[in-house]
Amino acid sequence: MTASTGTIKVGDTSFETNVKQGSIGPSVIDIGALYGKTGMFTYDPGFTSTASCESQITYIDGDEGVLLYRGYPIDQVAEHGDFLETCYLLLYGELPTPAQKADFDYRVTRHTMVHEQMARFFQGFRRDAHPMAVMVASVGALSAFYHDSTDISDPTQRMIASMRMIAKIPTLAAMAYKYTVGQPFVYPKNNLDYTSNFLNMCFAVPCEDYKVNPILSRALDRIFILHADHEQNASTSTVRLAGSSGANPFACIAAGIACLWGPSHGGANEAALKMLGEIGSVENIPKFIAKAKDKNDPFRLMGFGHRVYKNYDPRAKIMQKTAHEVLNELGIKDDPLLDVAVELERIALHDDYFVEKKLYPNIDFYSGITLKAMGFPTSMFTVLFAVARTVGWIAQWREMIEDPGQRIGRPRQLYTGAPRREYVPPSKR
Ligand code: CMC
Repeated sequence: MTASTGTIKVGDTSFETNVKQGSIGPSVIDIGALYGKTGMFTYDPGFTSTASCESQITYIDGDEGVLLYRGYPIDQVAEHGDFLETCYLLLYGELPTPAQKADFDYRVTRHTMVHEQMARFFQGFRRDAHPMAVMVASVGALSAFYHDSTDISDPTQRMIASMRMIAKIPTLAAMAYKYTVGQPFVYPKNNLDYTSNFLNMCFAVPCEDYKVNPILSRALDRIFILHADHEQNASTSTVRLAGSSGANPFACIAAGIACLWGPSHGGANEAALKMLGEIGSVENIPKFIAKAKDKNDPFRLMGFGHRVYKNYDPRAKIMQKTAHEVLNELGIKDDPLLDVAVELERIALHDDYFVEKKLYPNIDFYSGITLKAMGFPTSMFTVLFAVARTVGWIAQWREMIEDPGQRIGRPRQLYTGAPRREYVPPSKR
């Protein structure tokens, strides 16, 4: 990281400060001394101009539509590697050698079972609970089951917690699914690869054989790669903020899952598919485009737009290709939702409103169609996102804990409430 200096001038006060330059991307102005020098805070709701940390994990150039994991372009990682290789890359910073990869796969695979008592924990939920509600609770509950990996000051415990989380999250996700459909839980099978094992835990039943389709498994594995990390998005920032207080890793990941659930973030894949269903057919598209453009209507085209990408989301391109591959494999020739999606994308990409605001399809636009075709109900879409993003959250959490300059995150505010006033007793109100 190189640094130059700049001058900050506010009213009559001016002072020199560092301007830090990363390896690529915009520079940042170090404003840590601002309050001490001027008595003022910066104001940036939604953090549109604020870098909250230094990181070496993921880089996004939103104007160019670029996403790099540890420097490697997302399309190359998704094309050539598998999800556990991506996990290794995000956690350790380098692609694994074949021996390192085999060892990593072995270590993750050996952690896939959850404590048997977890099955009882699940019985406490209503069967119609949203699986994301179950995930928030069950991942948080891991801290009550694995006491030997909650001491964050111990690097070995941090690593065990990380491996446990990556390995157990598919097991919990599959259990959340099985619970809502009233089927028995399926134990992990260590002879299957990570994603095939997940599909088996979701779709196998005790009364008949289930054979994982390798094309669907590869497609889902690629979807996991696409979702694995995305720098300082809302859920990752939540994990970092929760972790900055010294909270245990399982609790921090549960906080990330809660944040991911919202429709502006990971919940958008569920919302996008619901929207395509509501549109129903190509003739209805203009009506929905008009609604999305109407300032007085809160409706938005779900799966469109992104805080950072002002160009085509590079993940959406791969997701679109994957959607076609999955539908072909399953022999789905005419999917009315896909027809609506393709036409909606075509119209929106030529519409002045979307062009001027640089609103392009994001990763969630095609993911719902793909996951639905694979047999997942919409309520599971965000759960699958959480399965994949867990490694990103863990990698970012570890990076934060290992940063010697790490401090508790504590933003300030612009107070607009009542100034000091005297307490009024109930009889005088
Ligand atoms: N449909 C219609 N108009 C939109 C849309 C949309 N999907 N997205 C943004 N706009 C308009 C918005 O009304 C605003 O217009 P104006 O400047 O006239 O007020 C302008 O574009 C900028 O929008 P914003 O809300 O200020 O932008 P943001 O960066 O705060 O929000 C976003 C980003 C992703 C929340 C937003 O684009 C959105 O709500 N999209 C739909 C939900 C969605 O697909 N989310 C998934 C994001 S990708 C996966 C993930 O990261 O989790």
